[in-house]
Amino acid sequence: MSATADRDPKDIVYVNGSFLPRAQARVSVEDRGFVFGDGVYEVLRAINGKLFAARFHNQRLERSLDGVRIALEGDHSPARFVEIGRQLLKENNLLKGQATLYMQVTRGATIRAHNFPPPDVAPTVYISVARFTPYTDLAESGASAITQPDLRWARCDLKTLNLLPNVLASQTAKERGAFEAMLIRDGVVTEGTKTNFFGVVNGSLRTHPCDSHILPGITRSVLRDLARDLKIELDETPIKVSEIPKLSELFLTGTTTDVMPIVKLDDKPVGKGRPGELTRKLQRVLAESLASGGD
Ligand SMILES: Cc1ncc(COP(=O)(O)O)c(C=O)c1O
Repeated sequence: MSATADRDPKDIVYVNGSFLPRAQARVSVEDRGFVFGDGVYEVLRAINGKLFAARFHNQRLERSLDGVRIALEGDHSPARFVEIGRQLLKENNLLKGQATLYMQVTRGATIRAHNFPPPDVAPTVYISVARFTPYTDLAESGASAITQPDLRWARCDLKTLNLLPNVLASQTAKERGAFEAMLIRDGVVTEGTKTNFFGVVNGSLRTHPCDSHILPGITRSVLRDLARDLKIELDETPIKVSEIPKLSELFLTGTTTDVMPIVKLDDKPVGKGRPGELTRKLQRVLAESLASGGD
């Protein structure tokens, strides 16, 4: 497993209006992101300085902010964050090769109380970039996954900081030598801890519909459009646990995972135990889209 987000030695980040070295960046211990996990975030992929699907990430950030009722202040907006991200890519010498852009907004720093802070407390904005190495080898061989109960809340459609169930399931996967945990709620596969899951059952491509039990993944939606162009129908009927033995192909999608074939689930082979034909096709078209696409 070799995808990494390495630190660049210069490592300039943005916090609340200032560009400064990461080592000097500070937020308050009273920040609600720290105390309550009260905030939202986005992760974008940059290839040779171009941010992939930035417009969709902006829309999702806007929706997450609205969903948790955080109002941005001054000239802060998702579009402005993307501009800041571009500046960070430049300042950190990341205009060549691959990088990730992380953007986080919390409800700001104030005396601890569950209800919202007074109106004069500004949200905290933190933006950073990091060099990124894709999971090229694993994408070729295929990875393994395990199933885990989906212990998350009922608004998984918002990209919030409250990631403890994801963290715990992801760690269990790691401890079992698996790449990802496939989360199960009410007898169906929802998604992964940081990815959306797709499977082929009886020849049809299936994934969980976009409702409040999954994050509407940007890669998921890009892939749905690419599949449509290829006349591959996507059936947004969730895969039931009882259908898992019938899966002939399984893969996951995400900004930093692209299309990742899953060839082993809970220690049993999926289909023939190697990446399937449809998975390979979709892997190829997404790679082409990433190579040609940008903002
Ligand atoms: C829970 C969850 N599902 C799906 C995804 C994939 O979304 P995207 O394709 O926008 O990266 C992520 C990404 O972080 C995620 O955290």
